[in-house]
Amino acid sequence: MSRPFREHADPLAAAPRPRRPDLHELPHRVRRWVVDTLGSEVSHSTTQTGGFSPGAACRLLLNSGERAFLKAVSATANREAAALHRREALTAGSLPPGIGAPALLSVFDDGEWVGLLMEDIDGRPPTQPWQADELEQVLSSLARLHANVTPSPTSAVSSFAESHADQLGAWRRLAAAPPDGLDAWSRRHLDLLAGLERVWPAAVDGTTLLHADLRADNMLLVGNNVVFVDWAWACTGAAWVDTVAFAPSVAMQGGPPPQWLLDRCPWATAADPEAVTTVVAAVAGYFTEQALLPSPANLPSLRDFQARQGHHARTWLRERTGWR
Ligand SMILES: Nc1ncnc2c1ncn2[C@@H]1O[C@H](COP(=O)(O)OP(=O)(O)OP(=O)(O)O)[C@@H](O)[C@H]1O
Ligand SMILES: [Mg+2]
Repeated sequence: MSRPFREHADPLAAAPRPRRPDLHELPHRVRRWVVDTLGSEVSHSTTQTGGFSPGAACRLLLNSGERAFLKAVSATANREAAALHRREALTAGSLPPGIGAPALLSVFDDGEWVGLLMEDIDGRPPTQPWQADELEQVLSSLARLHANVTPSPTSAVSSFAESHADQLGAWRRLAAAPPDGLDAWSRRHLDLLAGLERVWPAAVDGTTLLHADLRADNMLLVGNNVVFVDWAWACTGAAWVDTVAFAPSVAMQGGPPPQWLLDRCPWATAADPEAVTTVVAAVAGYFTEQALLPSPANLPSLRDFQARQGHHARTWLRERTGWR
């Protein structure tokens, strides 16, 4: 039976809703590529609301009766989203079948529009707020996924440390120039936090293929399984890093506190607790720094979403360090 985590419920943060164009709003050349690639006209397109980019995300039903999933974004709508679609094309194209990720069918890129046609996953996003049984289903699917991709079956991705070099290490930057709006706890401990996270690149080291962007809007429940979508940030590292990065979003979306998830991650039990705390610090620093930056183009609610995850990550870090 479905049980919400009411005892832990926080004000529920819905994921930012991007303004997604529908299929008929895409340029003719993109729609032509869809039809040419799939070899059939589209009889019905359903725009998906989950996710972040201000791009199209359409489940397509074809005249042939087959299905496909389309995501497409223009660099004009959001340059970074277009870059992420390109990155996902490289990554998704290198993933082996059978790991719980949709197959990549084709890529469109004319320098302005980037489109990916993928296998359509007939699933549903986890219920929000998080329900106990669905969260357990996600955690067991994630453990299976990680077991299947250790060591990483693809060499097309870089390490977590390399691919996140610009994002993590935020406490050092915050300590050098504390921004307006920085919360009092962070301000009080800036130098300690910068010191704690310093060794994050070594702490995340590992051979597992990580998704590195796990959130409710990047997974679909299919029967008893879970298919993880949106592999733009895939990289290699320690398996538990995926859980550490995912956990603040679960707390934010009405689930249990982050440590609850980590306690159920089979990979975390063997991990060095100091390495875990280092990565919790790095993740907390990331959300704290990002939340205080100006909003990116066409993503007005992203900063609030990051601020809420930052709150949960810092609360977790405060518990793990005992710093008051
Ligand atoms: N292969 C698929 N089949 C069916 N539905 C999918 C598939 N991939 C994604 N979806 C649905 O579409 C939504 C948006 O997709 P996705 O997460 O890939 O895009 P995005 O978050 O906008 O992209 P990005 O993070 O790269 O900017 C997901 O939340 C999911 O509900
Ligand atoms: Mg997404």
